[in-house]
Amino acid sequence: MIDRCGREIDYLRISITDRCNLRCVYCMPEGGVRALAHEDVLTYEEIVRVVRLMAGMGIRHIRITGGEPMARLGCLDLAEKIHAVPGIHSLSMTTNALLLRGRVNRAQEAGIDALNISLDTVDPDVYARMTRGGDVRTVLEVIDQAVQRGMGVKVNAVPVRGMNDGGLVRLAELARERPVCVRFIELMPVGCGADLSPVPTQEVEAKMERAFGALSPDDSVHGYGPARYVRPAGFAGSIGFISPMSHEFCGACNRVRLTADGYLKLCLNHTAGLDLRAMLRGGADDARLAGEIRAAIENKPARHGFMEEIGDREVRRMNEIGG
Ligand code: GTP
Ligand code: 5AD
Ligand code: SF4
Repeated sequence: MIDRCGREIDYLRISITDRCNLRCVYCMPEGGVRALAHEDVLTYEEIVRVVRLMAGMGIRHIRITGGEPMARLGCLDLAEKIHAVPGIHSLSMTTNALLLRGRVNRAQEAGIDALNISLDTVDPDVYARMTRGGDVRTVLEVIDQAVQRGMGVKVNAVPVRGMNDGGLVRLAELARERPVCVRFIELMPVGCGADLSPVPTQEVEAKMERAFGALSPDDSVHGYGPARYVRPAGFAGSIGFISPMSHEFCGACNRVRLTADGYLKLCLNHTAGLDLRAMLRGGADDARLAGEIRAAIENKPARHGFMEEIGDREVRRMNEIGG
């Protein structure tokens, strides 16, 4: 599908739940949030129907996200069903990894070829503080199991001033011996992220250069997202930067999102989209759904507009959007 800015949309991110077993400071309030009611969340059958339909319209890459996707029962069974849909070339998952302990094999068998694992620090105390209760050793265990099994692994870290910014070099060290990408994501002013202090990419990159020397660009394929990669000398893996704030990448955007309650979201920071759940449950046939989806995608917003006044700014939290 091509939108009216000429961008080819071939990537769908599916949030299968807004629930999470953690409470990362930039994502969820400490006391949690009221979760969606069970009946408001798309069933797996509904999700698979949307995937089939959109695969027929040119979607090639699917990412399963949350909240924490593994917090929904049967997540890997859904993965298997999505993997089996003709036209889907890659299936990946964004996860905090804790609930993958002992289930990495099963995830791979279900057809998940890559994991993006949220990990902001390797320091156990800082990790417990930032996630409000997580055990970093489990995350590191899962990373090593996934690497051993040959899965693509990326670590997603959000540098937050005064929290994990003292440990970014140690975190990047994960990529020295392992073929993983450690990616630093600029904090976006979405949900709880708006109350914290970001560390711009430029500053993180300078830290990496001081620690590891010159960083040469690493252009080998790493996924389908907006990250830019570099590789320090002697590293098995690489370091990546996702800089929505300092280097807007919307001109090359290739994705739309499906929220757990069945809303097809056209851009992270805009409410514009399509209530697919209402159509699915209102008896719409495939032709009607496809027509509406095509029309919506054609009107995908040109830019996220984080730094300006926009009329339809998103009010959902990150756990409801899935990143
Ligand atoms: P690959 O590079 O294909 O592995 O995936 P990805 O980077 O798209 O996926 P991931 O779920 O790991 O996302 C990493 C971070 O990038 C998350 O914080 C997302 O919110 C952010 N991100 C992904 N897509 C967009 C986007 O379209 N706009 C903005 N502003 N941020 C995005
Ligand atoms: N800004 C940037 N990244 C965020 N994430 C969650 N909230 C924010 C935010 N406000 C990240 C998580 C996860 C990914 C899907 O989104 O760290 O890795
Ligand atoms: Fe959960 Fe991910 Fe949000 Fe952390 S960032 S609270 S792991 S959904």
